[in-house]
Amino acid sequence: MLDGKTAIVTGAGGGLGRAHALYLASKGAKILVNDVTVDAAERIAQEVRDSGGTALAYAASVTDDAAIEAMVSAALQAWGHIDILVNNAGILRDKSFAKMTIADFRTVVDVHLMGAAICSKAVWEPMRQRGFGRIVMTTSSSGLYGNFGQANYGAAKMALVGLMQTLAIEGEKYGIRVNCLAPTAATGMTEGVLDAASLKMLAPERVSPALLALVGDDAPTRSILCAGAGHFAAANITLTHGAYVGIAADAGEQVVARWDEIKDRDQEIVPTYGFVQAEREVEAAKAVG
Ligand SMILES: NC(=O)c1ccc[n+]([C@@H]2O[C@H](COP(=O)([O-])OP(=O)(O)OC[C@H]3O[C@@H](n4cnc5c(N)ncnc54)[C@H](O)[C@@H]3O)[C@@H](O)[C@H]2O)c1
Repeated sequence: MLDGKTAIVTGAGGGLGRAHALYLASKGAKILVNDVTVDAAERIAQEVRDSGGTALAYAASVTDDAAIEAMVSAALQAWGHIDILVNNAGILRDKSFAKMTIADFRTVVDVHLMGAAICSKAVWEPMRQRGFGRIVMTTSSSGLYGNFGQANYGAAKMALVGLMQTLAIEGEKYGIRVNCLAPTAATGMTEGVLDAASLKMLAPERVSPALLALVGDDAPTRSILCAGAGHFAAANITLTHGAYVGIAADAGEQVVARWDEIKDRDQEIVPTYGFVQAEREVEAAKAVG
């Protein structure tokens, strides 16, 4: 299904990235295997070649914009075009917020958010000019729903949802579709976090098939696909119907009193862009004059 396509997978020297590289290659895509060390990138590129695929290894940190630009140039030089970017590289620096240093917070945001922004920016122009592109951000349940000890990681992962929302809107007319994957897998990252029985079910290879839906010709855009153990579900950022309270002196007290109505999910929607919120607010205010 991906014959003739080319893909860059960041952080593909192990874990999920390795499984993604092998999976996309098995569907016919040529793969640029990125990781921080030459050894890790070359090892997985060789694995892809050994399994009958085509792969290049490229060592670069996703946080190094000059190195990432050079990496994209190398892929363009080798293959002429880049169809797919999977922003997968990531790190953890878990600690409760009370014990977390700001330096650790910055490092995590830098790798996940700035790394994905730098890689997406580097492929954006070539994709835009060609009128085709598929970008996947790797988010996490930790960002979507929170996890103890992961304030830095969760914030960075949720930021990737925000990056996806706008890149999907801006990329639409150029054929660039941008989606998020929220994986669960037994990797270096989850050692000691999950029990042994669960880890067995959570092979990274059970996540990678999610990519076919996100990068294929018929891919959606602005989707958040949750994947683990062979189970797939979608997450959404929704907006409730809400209530018009107005601007009387007791507006605050009314918000408190009508909390259940404001939170009621019966008529909630998934806005197609951010301004939908403002439109609905103004509409509600105009309705009462
Ligand atoms: N494993 C899970 O359950 C899980 C859950 C949610 C999200 N994720 C996300 O999935 C992605 C892959 O995680 P994983 O579980 O395979 O972890 P992993 O630690 O096994 O792999 C991460 C890879 O990224 C590479 N990397 C780190 N910093 C880099 C940098 N600056 N530049 C390039 N490469 C870099 C590492 O060398 C490593 O090979 C991450 O973004 C992670 O946050 C994983």
